[in-house]
Amino acid sequence: MCGIVGYVGDDTAGQIVHGGLENLDYRGYDSAGMALLGDDGLTITKREGEVSNLSVPTVTGATCGIGHTRWSTHGPPTDTNAHPHTGMSDDIAVVHNGIIENYEELRATLVADGHEFTSETDTEVVPHLLERELDDGRDLRAALESAVAKLEGSYAIATVCADTDRIVATRHESPLVVGHDDDAAFLASDVTAFVEHTRDVTYLEDGDIVTLADGDATVYRDGEVVDRPIDTVEWDATAAEKGGYDHYMLKEIHEQPTALRQALSGRIDLDRGTADLDLTFPAGFLDSLDEIQFVACGTSFYAAEYAAQLIESFADVRATAELASEYTVDGGGDPRRTLTVAVTQSGETADTLGALRRANGGGIRTLAVTNTLGSTVTRDADDSLFIRAGPEIGVAATKTFASQVTTLALLSVFVAQERNALSAADARDVLTDLRGLPGAVQQVLDDAGDVREAATAFVDASAYFFVGRAHGYPVALEGALKLKEIAYDHAEGFAAGELKHGPLALVTEDTPILAVLTEGTRPEETLNNVAEAQTRGAPAIGIVDGSVETNSLDTAFSVPSLGPVTPLVANVYFQLFAYAIAKQQGRSIDKPRNLAKSVTVE
Ligand code: M6R
Repeated sequence: MCGIVGYVGDDTAGQIVHGGLENLDYRGYDSAGMALLGDDGLTITKREGEVSNLSVPTVTGATCGIGHTRWSTHGPPTDTNAHPHTGMSDDIAVVHNGIIENYEELRATLVADGHEFTSETDTEVVPHLLERELDDGRDLRAALESAVAKLEGSYAIATVCADTDRIVATRHESPLVVGHDDDAAFLASDVTAFVEHTRDVTYLEDGDIVTLADGDATVYRDGEVVDRPIDTVEWDATAAEKGGYDHYMLKEIHEQPTALRQALSGRIDLDRGTADLDLTFPAGFLDSLDEIQFVACGTSFYAAEYAAQLIESFADVRATAELASEYTVDGGGDPRRTLTVAVTQSGETADTLGALRRANGGGIRTLAVTNTLGSTVTRDADDSLFIRAGPEIGVAATKTFASQVTTLALLSVFVAQERNALSAADARDVLTDLRGLPGAVQQVLDDAGDVREAATAFVDASAYFFVGRAHGYPVALEGALKLKEIAYDHAEGFAAGELKHGPLALVTEDTPILAVLTEGTRPEETLNNVAEAQTRGAPAIGIVDGSVETNSLDTAFSVPSLGPVTPLVANVYFQLFAYAIAKQQGRSIDKPRNLAKSVTVE
């Protein structure tokens, strides 16, 4: 949620900051604003709505500026609540991501001291605190250090002040990354903001204070300068562009074959029948495990549910998937014989990080499975495994789900082999299926026109029900989530057998049933459940692979059989279906209402 941009350099800061905000508006698009430091001091401009509503003011000599795009938590999306926020004067400007939990108490103290507030946000306490610290004679860096010591909650904060030609920023449980160019320094909550200018980045750590001045960045820790490594981002700006597609989401759906090849690259040895992952666990650790717990949210949770099934079937170990926001370590087994795997595309989801920290606190070994190098989850977990999907800009996750399940399938084989639970021959079968994924997904993508045409008949449906069994069940849940997110229609995913235990009451001729009917998902039984809905008038759409007779379906789409990962290929039809429905309804597909790509609040 929310995006921060900062720039100090020789170029016109207004254009660069605005460009950065445009690149980041998938993080939040309720309002946007910027503060530019020019020859005549600070110019602040902010506006309700998307970044495109915000015009760049003409500010002479502005070579330093910060900007913000907001996903509202405290206070509705209005011009006044938009960031940057100021104190009693307009000489200081602050942008903030996260939530300041003790803001009411701080605000009351500041009001008692005579400070007047204009917004309903938690953020506004920060510029007022900074004013107080500056009045006490501190410079901006010392003032920020002292001010944040009073904050509880999570934050990434950047500030500029009228009489100091610099940006000062800090983070606590909210991402912040610095970009280095020859004569310029950048700051952002996500490298996407400035990757068109530089790919050399430093990921800040919690508690770091960074100063951007004279085109350079200096990181401080407890008042001392510290060295932080400079990493090079592997992808370039074109990876974060639409590339001729109408929406990022459609582009990302079509990028799946490439993303899957990247996820698999160098990780399969078919001759030996092994999954080669760059992971090292203590000797005997995997072998002695009693349980693997996955924790995740949203789409990542459905990928985790899929993975838990794969691990149980391959690796002969209990595996569970828990919603991160519900996860507790209480009542669990022996922490030394448990592995907790946090699955998160962004690596910044607060609920998932919270669960991971609870696991760490309980003495459990942890593994992060993520798309994002340098993200918080990679620091908090004992080990990390990357899904290598490349940047995903569409708020609705598509290619990252495919890459998560694929990487987790490799992990399942890896764990199974360490436990001697899977023979090389059986592993080879699974790995061969995984190798087939990019081509199989491409076949489905080649069918996109047929899905678009078929979806036309269902665009006015009153609800959509997705059903599946076994690996088809998480895919049904994911299919329904995509439709909800981008079409704003009522959609639910059910374990197919559960339909008759209640949801059948919702079924009418206006509620299409979309079913996964592929090998390994007990398609005969699911087909019976589909027939029960059809008897009540519901049209039925099935994703089939020839493993059962499916003439009774109203519409069928075929996928090649790839053993346990066939439902992952079926999911691509669900993505295309959701996209087609949302497109026909003219929805804001890449930036659905009320949502943000990364949810950094609990
Ligand atoms: O970055 P994460 O994978 O941790 O994000 C988790 C969810 O917020 C995310 O999957 C969300 O459900 C997506 N919008 C789904 O399309």
